[in-house]
Amino acid sequence: MNGNKYTNGEIRNGNGFETNGDSCTYDDLMITAKYVLDRIPKMPSIGIICGSGMGQYWNEGALADTLQDKTIIPYGEIPNFPVSTVEGHAGQLVFGACSGTYVVCMQGRFHHYEGYPLWKCAMPIRVMKLIGVEFLIATNAAGGINPAFNEGDVMLIKDHINMMGFAGNNPLQGPNESRFGPRFPPMCKAYDRDLIEKAKDIWKNQQFDGRLFEGVYTCLGGPNFETVAELRMLKLLGVDAVGMSTVHEVLTARHCNMTVLAFSLITNECVMDYYDHSQPNHEEVIDVGKLRQSTLRRFVEEIVAYIAKNRMK
Ligand code: HPA
Repeated sequence: MNGNKYTNGEIRNGNGFETNGDSCTYDDLMITAKYVLDRIPKMPSIGIICGSGMGQYWNEGALADTLQDKTIIPYGEIPNFPVSTVEGHAGQLVFGACSGTYVVCMQGRFHHYEGYPLWKCAMPIRVMKLIGVEFLIATNAAGGINPAFNEGDVMLIKDHINMMGFAGNNPLQGPNESRFGPRFPPMCKAYDRDLIEKAKDIWKNQQFDGRLFEGVYTCLGGPNFETVAELRMLKLLGVDAVGMSTVHEVLTARHCNMTVLAFSLITNECVMDYYDHSQPNHEEVIDVGKLRQSTLRRFVEEIVAYIAKNRMK
């Protein structure tokens, strides 16, 4: 097919391969940031991405829902913002106080499988930066590859493997915006060691139910779950958990020098054997998220309290 066609508002080239499209300029992002700042009483210093298990799908008792003095801005009202296309995602920014600290929660995130280029999936991170966020807490649901992991376990992400980056797909592709960060950002300390250690202490001291691990995460494009051969390959590469998000958000956050803590809720054990007849499915992901959401909410509240007390200037 010749020429461009538009899908989900993005430019695709004639081969059907997604290009980086017309990425948001700094000025576009400033318009978005100003729209948001005009609607909130003060600037948040911590951003929290609520993945499945953190109240992406249901609100009662979820972190974003329990913030004090909330301001809610639906994504659809925010200029230049993508909209969540996955059924059941709340699709809104929720501002308010968490453990006494003013934060912003993304209730619903953007995935590559929705048809968005990676820069657009991660664009809210740059908006967060422009409205004052210095610390990012990213959460997700993931399949457990490490045989020690069970459903309901939590894995602090100590590092990632950027599989989509290996294939030449990266949110930082295209002209570098040096007002955010350098052309060639280092990624060797992407996940803050102090926060990982403190998160482990918090889990232990608060005696949260269930098990906490740390490990390596990878993001694949989805939307299909992986084949057995793919999972075995990921295991050989040293991957402990696999999902469809987070890596591009973390790349974008580290590019603009945010401090990052991320964790995965293990919602299913990956099927690593041809004779295992179980199959992963989205409902299971949601069900495990529901079961674990109050523990994860309390975990994040404690992490926010630690950051506010010890890490903020
Ligand atoms: N694979 C990819 N993404 C996921 C999985 C999985 O097994 N579980 C939850 N998100």
